[in-house]
This record gives sequence, structure tokens and C-alpha cells, in this order.
Amino acid sequence: MFYRAHVLVEMTSNSILLGAAQIRERLSREIVLAGLSQEVKVLETGPYGAKVPSPFVVVYPENVIYAPVSIDDVKWIVEEHLLKGRPVTSLIHPEVRVDWGLAGFRQPFLLSKEKRVVLRNSGLIDPENIDDSIARDGYQALAKALTLSPQEIIDRIKKSGLQGRGGAGFPAGLKLEFTAQATGDEKYVVCNADEGEPGTFKDRLILEGDPHSIIEAMAISAYAVGAGEGFIYIRAEYPQSITALETAIGQANEYGLLGGSILGSGFSFQLKIRKGAGAYICGEETSLLESIEGKRGEPRIKPPYPPQKGLWGKPTAINNVETLANIPPIVLNGPEWFKNIGTPTCPGTKVFTLTGNVNALGLIEVPMGTTLRELIYEVGGGIRNGKGLKVVQTGGPTGGTMTPDMLDVPMAFDTLPKYNSALGSGALTVIDDSHCIVDLVKNFCEFFLHESCGKCTPCRIGNKRIVEILGRAQIGKGKSNDLIQLRRLGENMKKTSFCGLGQAAPNPLLKCLDYFREEFEIHINQRICECRTCSMKPGKKTLA
Ligand SMILES: Cc1cc2nc3c(=O)[nH]c(=O)nc-3n(C[C@H](O)[C@H](O)[C@H](O)COP(=O)(O)O)c2cc1C
Ligand code: SF4
Repeated sequence: MFYRAHVLVEMTSNSILLGAAQIRERLSREIVLAGLSQEVKVLETGPYGAKVPSPFVVVYPENVIYAPVSIDDVKWIVEEHLLKGRPVTSLIHPEVRVDWGLAGFRQPFLLSKEKRVVLRNSGLIDPENIDDSIARDGYQALAKALTLSPQEIIDRIKKSGLQGRGGAGFPAGLKLEFTAQATGDEKYVVCNADEGEPGTFKDRLILEGDPHSIIEAMAISAYAVGAGEGFIYIRAEYPQSITALETAIGQANEYGLLGGSILGSGFSFQLKIRKGAGAYICGEETSLLESIEGKRGEPRIKPPYPPQKGLWGKPTAINNVETLANIPPIVLNGPEWFKNIGTPTCPGTKVFTLTGNVNALGLIEVPMGTTLRELIYEVGGGIRNGKGLKVVQTGGPTGGTMTPDMLDVPMAFDTLPKYNSALGSGALTVIDDSHCIVDLVKNFCEFFLHESCGKCTPCRIGNKRIVEILGRAQIGKGKSNDLIQLRRLGENMKKTSFCGLGQAAPNPLLKCLDYFREEFEIHINQRICECRTCSMKPGKKTLA
């Protein structure tokens, strides 16, 4: 059946919190009441990015984006736009470009800094409709891969220079090669969709916008390494992503794109979902494997690494959602195409999540090498309420700490370490100058204390002591040697903790001790908080 218009409603976990489900329901009802049910079809879609506020509604073929939409706006959109053909100009978000006339099914809006590879289909397709995905080249890369040898696929990924987007930036092609070369009667591929880093929600939204691209990537990886079974490990806390995945896996099985002898090639691949209970440590790859095996999520000793000894002791390639989303376009367009995006040493794009005190919040995909200034001031629209920038935490609490003098640093895996920082998972938490640094650091440390699995003493006890000392400083009971103690604790934890969590936990503390030492000293020695957020006498800002 052909429809005169399609209306896409953003339906992600974020937008649902803002009322998207009610908007969708009201839209369908108003369309029926207006007698348009044979002419207008309502569909669900994924997120666009930081500049389009949630929840949004797009009307095709005119390409008109209404954002953010409230339940009361729905009647107007139906009566004015869908019935009378007059877009409701007052409801169109001012930042959103509008193409009037028959624009067709295409990308409606792209910021100048944006480059969408991972989010190529997000906001454009109905994630629960495999035909939408296929219409946008979905599963073409899998069909092509099955005509190549496994080594040819691995070579493509290796040549592209794709690095893992889960935080460590390990070359994705090498990981596939190690798994392919490892000996084992059975092999596995695993998708790490745990995503527990505070401020990071890219993987969840990538999955909710385009689950088929991850399924396709996993099938390609499985063919490349010789695996017959794969698992997507995802938090049970993300029901929207799980539903999107379950639907997509069901459809792919139905279409013969998963299961036995895919596309008649003789290659068979089963894909299953495993739900995690929401422990941050279960995002660490070896804890994740323990959790899939039904054990307590605690990290294993490495080496051996998962490509040699992974799930149930068998060779396993474990990759992050965003890493996987890059694989189909690389197979389809070739490694040179990918290398032309980003920087020579760090190709491709990066999906960032902008959170904190910026005007535009949300997902943004830009070429690697885009500067922090461009991300905060051009994409994010600058600091909210005209305040100054104090600090940016990159890659979540475990990543790096950057100050306003580092705004022109190109954001890439290999550039940030020169500034003692890290790209990590791509979370950018922007903090304005009204925030107290002791408060901020304590907040991060409390997270680590809560999430420490308790297996090793430096992390289990170290985090506890750090939080205690910072808490003392906040109530005006700091001791003269507290800063020495904090540094000693942090440095020892970095050296002696068993896994990445404990090793990275002191990062924000140690960096902030370097960059904001005076603020810590004022808290401890003068018992004053200049930002007025601590439970002690306020500083000069109050007196002014
Ligand atoms: C404490 C901790 C938590 C982690 N959480 C995640 C996570 O949620 N998602 C993820 O992809 N990687 C996470 N990682 C990194 C993984 O261990 C691993 O490096 C990654 O899944 C590899 O995939 P990639 O090579 O595609 O990046 C975490 C690491 C640590 C130490
Ligand atoms: S560093 Fe922390 S999270 Fe890692 S094993 Fe030790 S206690 Fe567990």
C-alpha cells in the first residue's frame, strides 16, 4: 500500500522519557479522526543528534522536522500540515533546516561538522522494519562479504585502520585476525553493549536507531573469524534497545540473513541476546564473558586475551557497538574510503555524547580530529546561561580531564594522551565554572566506590578512603596532609589495581589535583567553598 506521507516519531529510551510514546499514540489517533489513515503512515525512528531536540517528528516527503514536540502540538501538525498541507512554522525548531517541496527520502539535516557513518540510518529509517534497512543498503555488505574469503575481510578492516570505539582504541582488524588464527573447535563473536560509563549513551542510541547494522556487522565478523554463534551483551536496564534488537534479530532470521546457510552461502550464524544486570564492571570484556557464562562479573587475568581464550575458553572476538557499526560500510565502500575520513593516524568518525552544561545535548558524530572547541561551541552551542567553561571530562569518569586551554586539541585516540587525557568511550561532560571541583571529583569517586567489584584491595579500599577524605574537605574538616594522602592513594591504586576500573578510577582526582590545586587547598586550609556547594561557610562569591 502506498501512502501520501510518512510521519516518523523519534522513539528512543531518551525521547520516551520525554513523552514520545504518548505523542506517537496521539498522532495515530488524530490521523484516524482526520480520516487520513489510508494516506498517512506513522513510523518510529532513532535519534538525529545534538541539534535536534527530543522528541521530534519528521514529515516526509516534505522533510519537515518538528522539534521538540509536545502532546498539544500533535493536533496542529495533523490539522495544518497533514490535512491542509501547510507546515506549522512555529513548531519547526529554528536550528533545523527545512527543505520545502518534494525532497524525498533523504538526510534532512546535517551540521557542517557532522559526518554520519555510524548514524547513517538513524532518524531516517524505522528500526523495526528490515525493509527500511535493506532500502538503505542494509545487509549488502554481508552479501558482499560472503563472496570474499575471511582473510580478505580481515585485510579490509586492517587496512581501514578502524580502532575499537569501546575506549581502548585497539585495532579492530588485528582483533579479528587474532581470533581467526587462534585454534579452537568453536569460536564466538560478542558485542559489548553494556555501556555503563556515566554520560555515555551512544551505543544504546546507535542500537535503537539502527539495530540491523549491528546484526550485519556481527555476521560479517563471525564469517571472518570462523564463529558460528554470537552474543549481544546488553543491560536489562535498556528495554527499548532490547526490544529493537529482538525484533531485528527475528526479522533477519526470517529473511535468511541469520541462521542456517545465510543467503545460500553455506555459512551459518546464530545470534542471541544476553541481558546484564547493570554492573559497570561487566562492561570490562573479561567480566562480561564471566557474566555470559553465568558467573559473578569479575575480571579475569590477562593474558590470555579473549581472541585466544574467551567465552567458555574458546577464541572470541569482542567488540563495542560503535566499532561494529563501522564494519558494514568499510566492507562495502573499501578501506580507502574510510581512511579518507578523520586523521591519517586515527581514521573514521567518532560518536560523542554531549552532556552537562552545554546548550545542545545529545549524540553527535564527527570526523576524528574535530577539536573540543568545535564540539562544545559549534555543535553544543556553547556553555549554558552564559557561564564560563571550567572543565571537560572526556570519555566519562575513567577518561581524561581537559581544561579551557586545551580547547584546540584535535579529538582522537592518539592526540589526547599527549595532554594526559583520553578519548575513551566518547562521553563529553561539560562543567561550567559554577561547580566546585571537590564536589565534582567526589561525585566521580563515589561512582567508582559503588561500582568496584571488590576483588582487589587497592580499588575496594582505595576508593573508600578517597571518598572519605574528599567528604571531610567538603564539611570543613580537612587535614593538612590530605592532599598528600589523596595523591599517594591515587597513584598507588593506578599501579596496583587488578583491572582497568581501579587503574583508571583515580584519573579525575589526580588530574584535578594538578589543575585545580588551589581550590582543594582553599577547601582544606581555609575551610571555604568559593562555589558555595559544600556544607561549610561560603567563599568570596557569596560575600560579593
Ligand atoms: C571498567 C571497564 C568498563 C568497560 N565498559 C565497557 C562498555 O560498557 N562497553 C564497551 O564497549 N567497552 C567497555 N570497556 C572496554 C572493554 O573492556 C573492551 O576494551 C571493549 O569492549 C573492546 O571493544 P572494542 O575493541 O570494539 O573497543 C570497559 C573497560 C573497563 C575496564
Ligand atoms: S580494580 Fe576494582 S573492579 Fe577491578 S578487580 Fe579490582 S576491585 Fe574489581
